[in-house]
This record gives sequence, structure tokens and C-alpha cells, in this order.
Amino acid sequence: MAKLIDGKAIAATIREEIRVEVRKIEASVGKVPGLATVLVGNRTDSTTYVRMKRKACEEVGIESFHVELPESVSEEELLNCVERFNADPAVHGILVQLPLPKHIDEERILSAISVEKDVDGFHPLNIGRLAMKSRTPRFVPCTPRGCIELLVRSNVNIEGKCAVVLGRSNIVGLPVSLLLLHRNATVIICHSKTQELPSVCRQGDILIAAVGRANMVKRDWIKPGAVVIDVGINSIPDASKKSGYRLVGDVDFDDCKDVCGMITPVPGGTGPMTIAMLLRNCCDSAKEAFG
Ligand code: GUN
Repeated sequence: MAKLIDGKAIAATIREEIRVEVRKIEASVGKVPGLATVLVGNRTDSTTYVRMKRKACEEVGIESFHVELPESVSEEELLNCVERFNADPAVHGILVQLPLPKHIDEERILSAISVEKDVDGFHPLNIGRLAMKSRTPRFVPCTPRGCIELLVRSNVNIEGKCAVVLGRSNIVGLPVSLLLLHRNATVIICHSKTQELPSVCRQGDILIAAVGRANMVKRDWIKPGAVVIDVGINSIPDASKKSGYRLVGDVDFDDCKDVCGMITPVPGGTGPMTIAMLLRNCCDSAKEAFG
């Protein structure tokens, strides 16, 4: 059986580090970091994620400012909301939960967020800086940063290793590939048009699965001893649960658990790390603002 990478425990350690830091900041400048969250519409997953993010803020002493807008909100109204938070000195991070409704130009909204408050790291300037090794982005996206942190805190050597990333999304696949590249991994990015997917994945000493397809990765996709980071959070029907469903990753955990060297569980792997990295980015932003 592979060693479990306990994202929940690692995230709890990081959250405690941040809680201590926030108390120190408050003691020295008399102010606390602030995070603004913007939720558009009422998607169940987005509502849950934003609620968890705000709760995590509260637990470490970060003040949260929350706005909910209807699905029908206009682009201009949403932009006004972002502008208000850009101008508010009590707000050090702005998070507009994605995805946004189809009638809204996501890139226009993300570009409107102040680069100094872009704690999601989705602003084109931050992504662009991330793409150039010589430039440091102001913020690195939370889920990719969490994946790297899980590897580092589990003493996984990245340099020189073959890292296979399954998925090329702006939120996870692409930025995590860049972070692995900056740490001198040989990176293979797979996507829907990749041929011979199982054998390509099997080259990975490190496999990051971020496609959003329940239990897609099977044991013959995995190089024996590989480190597997599962970013997928998929809900599938399960009549034995009170809720009627359960969460599974992109990796078929039971099928793969005795072939990998290490693996993250779902839930309790990368999910808690995304939130911990958001708190980290928000706290760092406040420290920069307070000088
Ligand atoms: N939707 C899925 N993941 C994320 C995330 O990390 N940030 C935001 N804003 N939206 C998301």
C-alpha cells in the first residue's frame, strides 16, 4: 500500500502557522488581513467552496468580506464590485469564484482585479510572470501551489524527475506544469487529444491528475512507485450515503493504491491545501500592504 499524503494534516499545520502570523501582524500594526469573496449565482459546488474559504479565514483571524450576486448580474455590475474592493484598504485579497455565468467575460473580470490583490493568481500579468522563470509573480494560483507544497513537505525530489500533468486548465494544469518546470522536472502535459494516454502517464515519476473525470486513472496508467497527486473532486451517486453521493478523485484510488509510492486521498488531499494557500497568499498580501 502506498504512503498516504495527508493534505488535511499538512494544511492544518500551514493554517496554524498563518494564525500565529496574523496575531503577530495584529499586535504590531493593529490591523488584520482582509479577503473579499465574490460569488455569482448559486452553483452548489461554488457556494460550498466559498463557504469553506470564508470559514477558514475566520479560523485564522483573516477578516472576510462577502458579496453574492445573482446569476443574471451584468458584467458592469460585477466590474463595479471588483473596483470597490480594489479601492478598499481593508481588503488585501479579492477572490471571484469561478466559473462565472456564460454571459460574463471571465478574462475581463480577472484582469480588473488589482494585481496586488490577486490572491488567486489568475490575473494575466501574474500568469505571464509565472510563465517567465526570471520574473516572480506577485501570487501563484492556490491549487498548483498546494500541489508543490504537498510534494515538498513529503520530501519528494522534483528536480530531474519526469512529471506528467493530466489536464491543461488555466486554474490547475497549466500553472502546475510551469511550477514543476521551474523546479527542473521534465514535464509532459496531457490533454483530451493526447494519444496513448495510459502509456504516457506511465512515464511519470510524479503524476498530477487534474481533469475532473471520476476514477479515470487506473493502475496500469501508473509507474510503479510513482507519486500521485489527485486534484479531482468529483461527486458520484452512492446510495449507501445519506446525501446520496460521495466524492472521488480523478484517480481510481482503490485500483491504484498499491502500485504508487505515495498518493493523496480524495477528500483530504489537495482540497484543504487550496484553502491553506489562499490564506497564505492573503496574509502575504497584507504584510506587503502594511509594509
Ligand atoms: N474554481 C475552482 N477553483 C477555483 C479557485 O482556486 N479559485 C477560484 N476563484 N475559483 C475556482
